[in-house]
Amino acid sequence: MVLSRPISRKRFLRYTLGAAASVGALTLANLKESQQPKADSLPLQTYDSSLTLKHFASKSGLLYGAASGYQILSTDSEYAQRFAEECLLLVPENDLKWRTLRPSPGEFDFFKADWLMDFATRNGLMVRGHALVFHHSLPDWFDAVVTPDNAEQFLTQHIKTVVNHFKGNMHSWDVVNEAIHPEHGQRDNWRLTPWYDLLGPEYVELAFRVAAEADPNVTLVYNDNRLSLNRPSDRAKRSAVLRLLERLKANNVPVHALGIQGHLTGGLQFDAAAFREFLRNVADLDLKIMITELDVIDQLLPADIEVRDRLVSDMYRRYLDVVMDEPAVISVVNWGLSDRYTWISRHKPRQDGLPARPLPIDAHLNRKAAWNVMAQAFEQRAA
Ligand code: XIL
Repeated sequence: MVLSRPISRKRFLRYTLGAAASVGALTLANLKESQQPKADSLPLQTYDSSLTLKHFASKSGLLYGAASGYQILSTDSEYAQRFAEECLLLVPENDLKWRTLRPSPGEFDFFKADWLMDFATRNGLMVRGHALVFHHSLPDWFDAVVTPDNAEQFLTQHIKTVVNHFKGNMHSWDVVNEAIHPEHGQRDNWRLTPWYDLLGPEYVELAFRVAAEADPNVTLVYNDNRLSLNRPSDRAKRSAVLRLLERLKANNVPVHALGIQGHLTGGLQFDAAAFREFLRNVADLDLKIMITELDVIDQLLPADIEVRDRLVSDMYRRYLDVVMDEPAVISVVNWGLSDRYTWISRHKPRQDGLPARPLPIDAHLNRKAAWNVMAQAFEQRAA
């Protein structure tokens, strides 16, 4: 095991939440003229209200779903009902993270996750697990307790216990989330994370092997962000993720799919050609692809709701145009279903204080332009 310097809470705080990291202090006003978003003029299709996203997705061989949590689904019955109508896949947004599952070093608390599993069973939903190894949302006790000497034991025991708890009931697991970050300047572009600091890069292979041993039949996913833009750092990120997947495959590590988060930013450039090629390269490694956390950050977009929704839906359209062409893609998951509950309102709030509108359904549970664009993209794939 490669050991390195101990890590302080201060450095923990430097570990950013991926999607949020890239936009910085940009505002629409300081985007260049050529980068100013323009709504396209394609007409929106109208659909019968009885048809849902899961219906269109399933017809095109895709699983559609969204992230949510115990707190929301157990208290907002109107929303819970809508969630079950629209989705076939449920992803616990935070309830399977270490911070929720591990109240203390010796304890596992599955209460919220078990409630979600039960909700899923009652409503005919599948569940995907997020995330076994992630630098974010670690419990407060982590720093003081996990050391280079016991880190392997903690990682192994956590994965074994959690994967085994849900054995046979999970659609897939995000085994490792966001391990690559070229800006950290490490060999092979590893992200500086507590796990990397404690165990060195071997932590990734270890995590996949332990997960496969605990449940040999579940789909194991490497999940990462920022894979579709055209800045040099994004190109570096795509090739570093590809190299990582190639190494894992070459070492017979049981990885079955790449999860692409897809936290898109309305107003930033999207590199369709490079993203298309990237998807093809991943598929050539005999991996499936899942879009795991789709939303469109509207922080830089104009206030006017009609204009904003249209620009958000354009981003969905351009992204899904590429994604739908790749046969290796098996699922599309939104990071939240309705603007009533979205992490964007806390992590990427608008300067004008208006509520964020990144998702396909609005806060009153009405379908938005983005919903129509998604339905249309799924429908076209099926045709
Ligand atoms: C986010 C949740 O949505 C927030 O509620 C929480 O406060 C922080 O984490 N990439 C990921 C997700 O893989 O786990 C993150 O979820 C969003 C970015």
